[in-house]
Amino acid sequence: MNDFTFDDYKTMIEDHIMDFMPDVDLKSITLYEAMKYSISAGGKQIRPVLLLAACDFCGGKAAEALPYACAVEYIHTYSLIHDDLPCMDDDDLRRGIPTNHKVFGEAVATLAGDGLQSVAYEVMQKDMLLYFDDPDALKRKIKAALEIVKGAGVKGIVAGQIADIEAENKSVSKELLDYIHLTKTAALIVAAVRAGARLGGCSEHDLENLTVYAENLGLAFQVCDDILDVEGNAEIMGKQTGMDAEKMKATYPALYGIEESRKKLKQLTDNAINALSEYYDNAELFVKLAGELATRAS
Ligand code: IPE
Ligand code: IPE
Ligand code: MG
Ligand code: MG
Ligand code: MG
Repeated sequence: MNDFTFDDYKTMIEDHIMDFMPDVDLKSITLYEAMKYSISAGGKQIRPVLLLAACDFCGGKAAEALPYACAVEYIHTYSLIHDDLPCMDDDDLRRGIPTNHKVFGEAVATLAGDGLQSVAYEVMQKDMLLYFDDPDALKRKIKAALEIVKGAGVKGIVAGQIADIEAENKSVSKELLDYIHLTKTAALIVAAVRAGARLGGCSEHDLENLTVYAENLGLAFQVCDDILDVEGNAEIMGKQTGMDAEKMKATYPALYGIEESRKKLKQLTDNAINALSEYYDNAELFVKLAGELATRAS
């Protein structure tokens, strides 16, 4: 493992995030502008950083994983654009600026999300085309892409989003709440880590440990997001707060209360960190990230 920090990887993503966006027809320039608007608004880039770091951790080269890292960020950004639509969470602010539909209208925002999702698949497939004469590398890339597609798909984000919407205004079981959080949020985080690990040529043992880390981190991530929706500062987070209670969303604070949610966050963070204990300093970036995430909500 090298000694790249979270910020080093983040810079790598930011420097290349627009490189893989295809040229579009002048006739559909609005689509391009709308996609670019949300992509370049600059999120925390947690998922693509995790992908690059996992690739390096497993012995690969982060630079070669860039198309997959950017694909994950395109998918994540599409999910946010759609999540904010009036027919979903109906939010006005995202990444510190007005949501996509507030600027471009609902139809264009819907299509910008669709466009970003298809660009993600295009980027990965184009990369695979370059490896026909290296079957081992090609296999790693196919497996990585499958992780990402599954995380985005009907057992991942999409499953979580429909369960989230259907749970509004209802009392839900703890089991259903976990299902929502694992699918709508943890699935893409797990996918990013597993895709990076696969690109790096991981062993089964390392893949298993990284998966346990990512599942716990992913769940912790949404618990933290839920707590910050109650207690956080909209200016710092760049998105509205208090919306979950208003929409009677199924969240950790709603079901367990804030104090229990904090305990749950700590437990999940400990689980994530413990999953990588055998790697000591080599897993420093992952451990640090989990710790920093937990402190955001404490
Ligand atoms: C927001 O994700 C949506 C959730 C899954 C809670 P992030 O908090 O990673 O959003 P950005 O990418 O930094 O804007
Ligand atoms: C969103 O969860 C998960 C996605 C798949 C986008 P939230 O609805 O809680 O995310 P925020 O709070 O709007 O960022
Ligand atoms: Mg939502
Ligand atoms: Mg939302
Ligand atoms: Mg939220």
